[in-house]
Amino acid sequence: MINDIIELEKECKKCEKCKLSKTRTNVVFGVGNPEADVMFIGEGPGENEDLQGEPFVGRGGQLLDKMLKAVDLDRKKNIYIANIVKCRPPKNRDPEPGEQEECIQWLRNQVKLINPKIIVCLGRISAAKLIKPDIKITKEHGIFFEKGNFLMMATLHPAALLRNPNNKPAAFDDFIKLREKMEELGLKL
Ligand code: URA
Repeated sequence: MINDIIELEKECKKCEKCKLSKTRTNVVFGVGNPEADVMFIGEGPGENEDLQGEPFVGRGGQLLDKMLKAVDLDRKKNIYIANIVKCRPPKNRDPEPGEQEECIQWLRNQVKLINPKIIVCLGRISAAKLIKPDIKITKEHGIFFEKGNFLMMATLHPAALLRNPNNKPAAFDDFIKLREKMEELGLKL
């Protein structure tokens, strides 16, 4: 399986299916333990991620790592992190629906190989694409939705928490709910 995900990453790094490939520095495929039971999915790389080739490495990423650490989760150990689109949209605009559609097959294959039990969507774009198009993050964050073989939950995007720190406790509650659900299901830590 690890070989398969390495193979998928190699293929993904050659992708030129949409115009984001023309302006990227790096393809940001994903990072973490491919055997993890929990996968986090954001929207798309920003400037730092584009430069470093890893998801969530800017200020938002540091906040995400802090919240993860508080519930014993760590990208180097027991989770996997990826994005809906693998290349940075210029000026950090939202990825267009067509770009998301072109790119999502990479994510589908990643999810198939990793086969997580829980998927956490970071922010509205990811939640709308993966949970339901009309999701209201402010009301529906922290709720587990059963979708096929997975439990899925949306939480607030770390960048939104940096803009609006008042929402940090609400987001942190979601991480606690996640950790409790992992224990309830006996998932790997
Ligand atoms: N925002 C995202 O949604 N993903 C990243 O990787 C970085 C910022």
